[in-house]
Amino acid sequence: TTPARVAPENRETWTGNTGFILAAIGSAVGLGNIWRFPGVAYESGGGAFLIPYLVALLTAGIPILFLDYAIGHRYRGAAPLAYRRMKKKAEALGWFQIMLSFIISVYYAAVIAWALSYFVFAFDLRWGEDTAGFFVGEYLQVSDPGVSTTIVSSVAIPLAVVWIAVLVVLALGVAKGVEKVNVIGIPLLGIAFAGLVIRALTLPGAMDGLNAFFTPDWGALLDLDVWIAAYSQIFFSLSIAFGIMVTYASYQRRKANMTSSGLVVAFANSSFELLAGIGVFATLGFLAFRQSVQIDELEGLTGPILSFVTFPAVISEMPGGNIFGAVFFASLVIAGFTSLISILLGVAATVQEKFGLSWRVSAISVSAVCALISFSLFSTTSGLLALDTVDQFANNVGIVLSAIVMSVLVVWVFRRGQLLRSHLNAVSTFHLGNWWLALVGIVAPVFLVIMLVQKLITLVS
Ligand code: PFF
Repeated sequence: TTPARVAPENRETWTGNTGFILAAIGSAVGLGNIWRFPGVAYESGGGAFLIPYLVALLTAGIPILFLDYAIGHRYRGAAPLAYRRMKKKAEALGWFQIMLSFIISVYYAAVIAWALSYFVFAFDLRWGEDTAGFFVGEYLQVSDPGVSTTIVSSVAIPLAVVWIAVLVVLALGVAKGVEKVNVIGIPLLGIAFAGLVIRALTLPGAMDGLNAFFTPDWGALLDLDVWIAAYSQIFFSLSIAFGIMVTYASYQRRKANMTSSGLVVAFANSSFELLAGIGVFATLGFLAFRQSVQIDELEGLTGPILSFVTFPAVISEMPGGNIFGAVFFASLVIAGFTSLISILLGVAATVQEKFGLSWRVSAISVSAVCALISFSLFSTTSGLLALDTVDQFANNVGIVLSAIVMSVLVVWVFRRGQLLRSHLNAVSTFHLGNWWLALVGIVAPVFLVIMLVQKLITLVS
């Protein structure tokens, strides 16, 4: 019985509901909303994607968010300790989840570092005319696709800045560090983003962009891959089944309206995501207008290429583009950073509880170790090329597996469903009926298993 050295009574707490909600929104709203969602939606049926997206949100996203909250709030520990308190053998699941989030943090930090560089580049539009050549050749310096371990200083410096910031915020603790950053950062992000979207909508061609984005391809609904994309997007975007929301809820006071907070967080996250889709596609509409092509003739509409190749090209074409660019990349940095610290908080709390360390010592050593790993992988060109593979594994396979194991164990093996339901209902105003257990215990895992099998088949073949 080594862990659990930190008595729950001594746990730090968020200062209140608002702090918790803002921090949870901060974790949810991240790179996933801005650079992942718009492209995924566009490729997976456009307007028709909203149907699988909403189904995934209502049948798995929100129910599993509640499950994460219930476990953390009831058992008051980061994922491994909370699961262990529920049932000793379940501790391993917590470690698996923390491992997944750790893997994500390593590359997530690299993308934030790129955004930080591009924030600076925006002021004088340093990327020039050939934005693809600039990103890959000059910035990332991926000239030789063979294995290279040369440190790329243009990435290494912002990456170091990101990790030092993480270390400082984490060392300050839950309320003074993480909560503070979110209380300032999230409203700021909201304002910045609203400004960007309004500007984007007033550009010529914006409406064509929105048409391209929202025009439904109903055939996509019959494609299982589209459904998989919707579920993965929801999990990643809500930060659920990573053990991170378990940790966040464990720092919430005992009397706290958990389910209502969860609804606010989920709604805010999806609104942000839709807004990002609208903003991004209005902007792409402008690009298509400028180049006198149709949107579907544009290339590079997803992932890192969208933000770091296509967007810079649009920004250069726009009147006052440098301001738009600076605000856009600053938004990416804020959104990403508030998510990154949530992951690191989960890892640091795990280490603290496992080894009975003081908060400071564990926060500093965890950030330092993650920084070193992230640094050694992602400041070299070979690491940069690995990003996609890592993302595929952790996001599509790892997270779905984690969600399945979690819901089946809690509901069917350990039979803690009713207990967790009454726990949430005792503190919350939005009451959960047995429908919640049906969603968590049956609907979600059945869907997820079908998807995982399909995914594995396509990965193998
Ligand atoms: N939800 C974040 C995003 O949408 O970018 C990413 C994320 C944060 C995933 C925290 C997982 C996590 F534990």
